[in-house]
Amino acid sequence: MVQTVTPWEVKGEIDYKRLITEFGTKEINPTIKDKIEELAGGSHVLLRRNFFFSHRDLNLVLRDYEEKKGFFLYTGRGPSGPMHIGHIVPLLFTKWLQEKFGVNLYIQITDDEKFLLKRERSWEKIEKDSKSNILDICALGFDPDKTFVFRNSEYIKKIYPMFLEISRRITYSTVKSVFGFVNESNVGMISFPAIQMVPTFFEKKRCLIPSAIDQDPYWRVQRDIAETIGYQKAAAIHSRFLPPLTSPQGKMSASSEESAVWLNDDEKTVKQKVMKYAFSGGRETVEEHRRRGGRPEVDVSFQWLKIIFEENDNKISSISEDYKKGKMLTGELKEILVEKINSFLGNHRKNKEKVDVDKFMYKGKLAKNMWEKEFEIS
Ligand code: TYM
Repeated sequence: MVQTVTPWEVKGEIDYKRLITEFGTKEINPTIKDKIEELAGGSHVLLRRNFFFSHRDLNLVLRDYEEKKGFFLYTGRGPSGPMHIGHIVPLLFTKWLQEKFGVNLYIQITDDEKFLLKRERSWEKIEKDSKSNILDICALGFDPDKTFVFRNSEYIKKIYPMFLEISRRITYSTVKSVFGFVNESNVGMISFPAIQMVPTFFEKKRCLIPSAIDQDPYWRVQRDIAETIGYQKAAAIHSRFLPPLTSPQGKMSASSEESAVWLNDDEKTVKQKVMKYAFSGGRETVEEHRRRGGRPEVDVSFQWLKIIFEENDNKISSISEDYKKGKMLTGELKEILVEKINSFLGNHRKNKEKVDVDKFMYKGKLAKNMWEKEFEIS
């Protein structure tokens, strides 16, 4: 079975167990899950239902927290277009971690990466997407005094020394084998991984990075060089991919209109998309469905409810039972999902109207510190 998972391409049926072996990460086992929940004083649906499934050094992060050494969070977004529901999954979990552990969070907007990646993409479009993505991110409710959101093209003047420190330690041969660069790759992309590693060095504490597993290659390289710069190896917590509407397998991606629900989709569009495209685990006819029951494990509407939209454990198991027994039809299941997504997006729209983006980028306590900070070359 062919599977490709890189920061820029996810192809084939994804075998998450195999990824753990191939990437050399660790499975999130019940012991470590219990430990996070104990220290956080609660549980999060994305962890409870195993959507976050793999990690690097999470045990050390928790140990540092217990020993009062602390840690910080780092995640990001590449503004290649509007954001879809999949992109906010790691962000919602990050928000929970920030709330529960009271730590600083850095969010990198890689406008440079998206410019370098595709020659046909104009800077004007990237400017527009960056602005709207940043608004979406800030509206999710992070702590404005403990969160710094920055665009690489703007913040690069501060972090250039750090970029130099990192990039002189990484060879072409390493990034070629880790990221799959080829002769046709442009030199900007070849050095870009060093820029995505910079924020892991923003504090002398351990850095914990929540994201889907596709971003892990950066941390692999970071971990090889971190200690030679006098910093700690980055820790990570990896999620699976929210599947596209059209298939129970794979990754919701920005390249297919019908397979994604966008944060700016209106109520009618959400309904139309789910009703028309959501892959169903139901049977051919109502009669057959009533008799044989549906298959929640392949039904994308059910998967989305289970992953994120229905947090109540009793409700999700009764939906699953009713669907399996044929008591609930696909149309009814889809209605539940439409209602949940629209309620989430309705709140999100309201939050966007109220949020003060400048606080996250320039004026909040952490943002101000980061603009005043001097990064030095050793
Ligand atoms: P980007 O914009 O491709 O993705 C942003 C975040 O969303 C995750 N993601 C998904 N998660 C669940 N289901 C999906 N279908 C799905 N699609 C994408 C990604 O794993 C990522 O966490 N270069 C990065 C931006 C970046 C970054 C970081 C990301 C800079 N620094 C640190 C994570 C951590 C990018 O283009 O992400």
